Amino acid sequence: MFGLFKKKEAKRVVNFDYSNVITDMHSHVLPGIDDGAQNVEESIFLIKKMMSLGIKKIIATPHVMIDYYRNDATSIGNALALLKAELVAQKIDIDISAAAEHYFDETFEKRVEDGNVFTMGDNFVLFEVSFINQPPNVISVIQKMKDKGYKPILAHPERYGYMDIEQMKTIRSWGCDLQLNTIALSGYYGKHSKKIAEEMIDNEMVDFISSDMHHPRHAAAFESTLAMPYLEKLLFDYPLKNIML
Ligand SMILES: [Fe+2]
Repeated sequence: MFGLFKKKEAKRVVNFDYSNVITDMHSHVLPGIDDGAQNVEESIFLIKKMMSLGIKKIIATPHVMIDYYRNDATSIGNALALLKAELVAQKIDIDISAAAEHYFDETFEKRVEDGNVFTMGDNFVLFEVSFINQPPNVISVIQKMKDKGYKPILAHPERYGYMDIEQMKTIRSWGCDLQLNTIALSGYYGKHSKKIAEEMIDNEMVDFISSDMHHPRHAAAFESTLAMPYLEKLLFDYPLKNIML
């Protein structure tokens, strides 16, 4: 009988935040140009939340994707300028810049060849792949990126249901860094993503972490993830590269 009532777990209280990470390098906080913040008020809400949790620097990464979000230097530059003006008006002091989250579509390889990609830090390029299956040419394009002097970062490998730890190891062995969405550790994307995120941490395969913040639900998850023991492993004595950006 008692088994029917699940004991409510006490929320773990922690005395740290994301201060050690310093830079959040994957988010959709630029207003109105993708499926993230839809206007500057939403952008400010998300940015204030990140700042309250210890983030000192934000690299916004709007989607660049031929089918849905045809962002380019103009659309990204305009959205960043609009947001910066509002941050100044509201006296919010945060280091914010923009790069992109490139979708590995049929135009991506050509973009790499043409040098038509958005970089962060010392030539890092953030990209994501299909959620349905791994593109057959992903390794050859990673190689092409390296040949061109780029440093590829694969966004949220824990979210690709088809990708196991061995596939991630192979991708990483070709010189591609892996970026974990921290909120995966809270179970936000489901049990499978949470488990594989933990496996990545145990195998020291996480190079970057970030919020991938789109909307207030992500902001709430970003905060509640602080209570996850696995996050603590990442924030202390773990070779994260966020500091390089
Ligand atoms: Fe994203």
